[in-house]
Amino acid sequence: MPEVYNPQLGREQSYPYEHREEERDWHWGMVINTNRCINCNTCSFACKSTWTSGKGEEYMWWMNVETEPYGGYPMGWDMRLLDDLGAEETIFEAAEQGERVKGYVAQKEEWEYPALGDDSVHGEYPEDEVVESDPEKGKYHDIWQFYLPRLCNHCKNPACLAACPRKAIYKRSEDGIVLLDQERCRGYRKCVKACPYHKPMYNPETGVSEKPVGCFPRIEEGNVPRCVSSCIGKTRLHGNINRGPDRGRPNGKKSAAPGRSPTNYLAKSDEKVALPLYPQFGTRPQVFYMPPYHVPPEFLTQMFTPNTDQKRNDWPGSTYEESVKIIQQRVRDPSHHLLGVLQLFGATTRLIETYNVKENRVKGWDRKGKKVVDMPIEEDLEVREGEKWTNQ
Ligand code: SF4
Ligand code: F3S
Repeated sequence: MPEVYNPQLGREQSYPYEHREEERDWHWGMVINTNRCINCNTCSFACKSTWTSGKGEEYMWWMNVETEPYGGYPMGWDMRLLDDLGAEETIFEAAEQGERVKGYVAQKEEWEYPALGDDSVHGEYPEDEVVESDPEKGKYHDIWQFYLPRLCNHCKNPACLAACPRKAIYKRSEDGIVLLDQERCRGYRKCVKACPYHKPMYNPETGVSEKPVGCFPRIEEGNVPRCVSSCIGKTRLHGNINRGPDRGRPNGKKSAAPGRSPTNYLAKSDEKVALPLYPQFGTRPQVFYMPPYHVPPEFLTQMFTPNTDQKRNDWPGSTYEESVKIIQQRVRDPSHHLLGVLQLFGATTRLIETYNVKENRVKGWDRKGKKVVDMPIEEDLEVREGEKWTNQ
């Protein structure tokens, strides 16, 4: 197997195909602020009613929200695989003879309860004590849970694509969206087994598999996916994750705005406040999560970092756990710039290609360079002198 560089792991890893994903001009990417998610599942239903309403698609939830640490769809989807991986071994490196990817096929009963574990908390309420949280002093809530929205990550090393013997799965050159060609598919279900996030699903009515499509018709028209536009908590931002600060005007067009994309800033700038889910699988997922700041960092470290002893200088702390603590603090107490970027979440249904934060305003432009957001970062507060109330 060829070796490809994985920046999320900071090392070369095996992957069946050579590619240079960083050179793509445009790549689908999403950032989700878990601190704003209220588990209303508006995203899940928006996705379901848009994409999967036919026969055989009843159990397909391409978008789902689960409660951590006890929820999961399919049940226990993450731990089953993680327990089987050796230290510093991706699902490609752990593959058994004759297979390209180490996978796991969830059984029927594991798919039957999409909301199992919802709102179950970890820990017990201490008797006669007030539950306090002060992350600055290293004290987190004794009882906690948080909501984790899950969808296809349109990975840069897609396991579904690597596993299919029919080459029925492909990554679009224009935006990196990973699609399944149902005409080519013969229902081998290697993709179903290989995706560590369990997003390709087999349709017994048609005899072929289906997978999430990244809302590509909306992206093509310059709009954000349905799960993003419908989110009432304004938890999400979608855009060109590859567009870093060194990119000029798109396609060299003068009318188009220069600059980096807000998703790239959140996931890849020095501020680095958005992290991939289980990067240790090695698929390079392109959905990034701003971690909940009330949850113990050791739990988040195993979920959102490579979770090894290796020291990396592109992380803010000397260990992954220390880095997570620093990131939680950045999310809890955002810099002025980050506060500006956070205003872009849910501000428009148009896809924000580039943005700019200047003084107290944040602005965003679409791919054609048209301004689609222009708003204050902090609202002016006017304090009125009230009449003094006296007890007479
Ligand atoms: Fe494929 Fe799964 Fe990655 Fe989506 S999340 S691109 S289905 S491996
Ligand atoms: Fe390939 Fe998956 Fe179909 S492995 S043949 S896309 S079921």
